[in-house]
Amino acid sequence: MKFFIDTANVEAIRKAHERGMVDGVTTNPSLVAKEGRDFRTVVDEIASFVKGPISLEVISEDAEGMLKEARELNGWIDNAAIKIPMTWEGLKAVKVCADEGIQTNVTLVFSPNQAILAAKAGATFVSPFIGRLDDIGQVGMEVIEATAQIYANYGFETEIIVASIRHPIHVYEAALIGADIATIPPDVLEKMVNHPLTDIGIKRFLDDWKKVPKK
Ligand code: E4P
Repeated sequence: MKFFIDTANVEAIRKAHERGMVDGVTTNPSLVAKEGRDFRTVVDEIASFVKGPISLEVISEDAEGMLKEARELNGWIDNAAIKIPMTWEGLKAVKVCADEGIQTNVTLVFSPNQAILAAKAGATFVSPFIGRLDDIGQVGMEVIEATAQIYANYGFETEIIVASIRHPIHVYEAALIGADIATIPPDVLEKMVNHPLTDIGIKRFLDDWKKVPKK
């Protein structure tokens, strides 16, 4: 299972990278806006130490505009994956990117049928948004389960990125399903290491160690 980090915060990515937990990074316009920094500068900084795919999103709504952006963004770094929204225009752009050898990540996917279209267009990655589905009372993880089954049925090579992760249970459920990738916000990654019995166990070992006679 690969871990991508879902943020445009360079320090958070660096921290996760130092812990050996970064196989790639996903950004989106909202995450970039949150940093209040120049996009290109942020991307160059991330790419200086992250060698796995870094998702960079287009903002055009027509295929031609998306392609223009995709080619430009792809020229910035060696490991770009161009994030393209799930629309017919987006799918047209994905197809051309696939033909040109540009990696893509089809974003804003909320149903297995949309995931089929992304795979047929030749997407490198597909990103079903789990948390946003949960938010409206639909079980997001069911989309991951169905998509994984469908891709296996037909041998689609598009990798599934479980996106819009809100808490550690999402990561656990994604892993049980066998999703290729989870893109994890830094605060969720932080929480994954925690268990009260670990803390209690460390304290007990250290307390007992004090009782060991020293020469
Ligand atoms: C994924 O690629 C998106 O950047 C992200 O997971 C969206 O998450 P949100 O629903 O928390 O905004």
